[in-house]
Amino acid sequence: MTLHRVAISSTGIYVPQEVITNEELVASFNSYVQLENAQHASEIAAGTFTPLVESNVEFIEKASGIKRRHVMDKSGVLDPTRMRPRLKPRADEELSLMAEIAVAAAQDALQRAGKTAADVDGVICAAANMQRAYPAMAVEIQGALGIQGFAFDMNVACSSATFGIEMAVNAVKTGSVRAVLVVDPEITSPHLAWKDRDCHFIFGDVCTAILVERLDTAPAGSFEVLGTKLQTSFSNNIRNNAGFMSRSEDRNPEDRDQLFRQEGRKVFKEVCPMAAEHISKHLAAHGLAPAGVRRFWLHQANLAMNLFISRRLLGRDPTPEEAPIILDEFANTASAGSIIAFHQNHADIQSGEVGVICSFGAGYSIGSVIVRRT
Ligand code: COA
Repeated sequence: MTLHRVAISSTGIYVPQEVITNEELVASFNSYVQLENAQHASEIAAGTFTPLVESNVEFIEKASGIKRRHVMDKSGVLDPTRMRPRLKPRADEELSLMAEIAVAAAQDALQRAGKTAADVDGVICAAANMQRAYPAMAVEIQGALGIQGFAFDMNVACSSATFGIEMAVNAVKTGSVRAVLVVDPEITSPHLAWKDRDCHFIFGDVCTAILVERLDTAPAGSFEVLGTKLQTSFSNNIRNNAGFMSRSEDRNPEDRDQLFRQEGRKVFKEVCPMAAEHISKHLAAHGLAPAGVRRFWLHQANLAMNLFISRRLLGRDPTPEEAPIILDEFANTASAGSIIAFHQNHADIQSGEVGVICSFGAGYSIGSVIVRRT
């Protein structure tokens, strides 16, 4: 069997227009805290209710590096009597919200590569949350784009995009398809516990798309995929228990375990060394060393995590151009983060230079993609 060389031809993005700054977020969170504490004043006085504590902008920026986030709906999140986005249900005949933003990002990617739906044989919708169980989001997106072939959904939390890239690369490599669109519609705001001070600032919404195709049909300046490497190791430290059994378990959708929750400190301590080692080993398997890498497009969850990983790899602080940060603008966008970093920071990479896209997150899951500019 002839194996084809494979490239990332282009990436595309959809960015929601609405933005919540840390100042706006904290003001609404603190209003919520004041309302709750006022409502429970007598229980607080009796010692039967622990008063809620306010959040603050300085903590958020120092602990995470996040300054603002884009969201699908700002008003619902900032309403202190609601604290979750307000999303309108759509009729079955309408394009669903996740599909809508995935189509926009996919069209952006196709246009940047000078390709059309006729050049693509498959769609993978890879994201941390799916809007529904079935039919697969990917099949709806495929239909809306007018792509022949197949489509399927996959979820590996924050590593969904890199895992999706490996699936796409392997399918193109073996010749079963000419090109695959990997779309990552990360609408994270509905699964975030906006009432939880420890994590209310963490996530933002976005969608990225990646066009993976045979190198011999890819446009000049595309990025050849030299290798992909995936790793998982079970951990309870990032969890969301919401699922199709929740109803039968008589769960309230507001129950704390039905939303994103994490042991942030443990995640930090355990995932950073794993990710650094994963990247080093992956590079070594290709006869490469971190010092020879022009750019690391890392998962964007926390600034200190990225600095830690880059220091482990390089033995010193990275420059902003060696490991670009986008989470100040976008917050953690689950699997889309490393793809946004790549999307916004690849134009200056010279022919022959090597870079690494790497994600890490719940599972735990780590995925790396080594690319070389053509
Ligand atoms: N405003 C003000 N203070 C806050 C606060 C807020 N919103 N949230 C927490 N604090 C306080 C805590 O009460 C605690 O106070 P104490 O020391 O008096 O007990 C202190 O800040 C430190 O809290 P902690 O939760 O330990 O903060 P942290 O430094 O670990 O930062 C995260 C929290 C979540 C930013 C950080 O742990 C992180 O990013 N971890 C990795 C998470 C990650 O990447 N997950 C992947 C998801 S895909």
